[in-house]
Amino acid sequence: MKVSASFLNSKDVVKDIIKLNETDVDFIHLDILDGHFAPNKSLPFSELKHIYKYTSKRLDVHLMVEKPSKYIPLYASLNTEYIVFHLETEEDIEENLKLIKSYSIKAGLAIKPDTKVNELIPYLPYLDIILVMSVEPGFGGQEFIVETKEKIDELKKLLDTYNIDAIISVDGGVNDKTKALCTKASMLVAGSYIIKSDNFQEKITSLR
Ligand code: DX5
Ligand code: ZN
Repeated sequence: MKVSASFLNSKDVVKDIIKLNETDVDFIHLDILDGHFAPNKSLPFSELKHIYKYTSKRLDVHLMVEKPSKYIPLYASLNTEYIVFHLETEEDIEENLKLIKSYSIKAGLAIKPDTKVNELIPYLPYLDIILVMSVEPGFGGQEFIVETKEKIDELKKLLDTYNIDAIISVDGGVNDKTKALCTKASMLVAGSYIIKSDNFQEKITSLR
C-alpha cells in the first residue's frame, strides 16, 4: 500500500514536512482549499511553492477549489506526481484533465462522499488516479465514513469492468483501524494519524 501524508492539520508545517522527509512516505499530499468549494482555506501558493526547500518527496496535489484551471499551472510547476481535482466542479472536466496531462503530470478526479462512482464513467480513460473522499472535504481530523468501503469496492469493480488501471486513493479519517475498510485501494492519505504522533515512521508503516 502506498501512503501519502497530509499536513493540513499541522501546527508547525515546516517542522512536520522536514520530519516526513526523513520517513519512507511515498508522497506529500497537498490539500489546496480556495474557501469556496469547501469551508476552509489553505496557505497560498506564494508560501506553498517553497516546499521543495524542506522535502524531496513528490507531491500528491488535491485541489478542493471551484476553478481548477487557475490552480493547475501553479501546482504543475512544483515536484508534482499527481494533480487531482473534484468531479463536482463546474468547469469542463475533460479540459482540465487534459491541462494536467499537458504538463506530463498524472491526472485524477476526486469524489465527495455523496457522489456516486458511476458519475466517473465518462472520464475513466483519462484517469491515472481516483481519490475517494471518506470525509466531507474541508478539514483534517474527521471520522472515516464507513459507507465508503462499499464505494471503494464498487469503484474497483467498475475499473475492472472497463479495464482501467487507475489507482484508487482514499482520503479522510484513515488510520490503522479504518485501513481495513480500504483493501481495494492502493493508496491511503493520512493526516492527523501521522502528524499527531511522535513517531511518524511507525504510523506510516502501520498503514502499509
Ligand atoms: C480533507 C483533506 C484530507 C485531510 C486528511 O479535506 O482532503 O486530506 O486533511 O486528514 P485526516 O487524515 O486527519 O482526515
Ligand atoms: Zn486531501
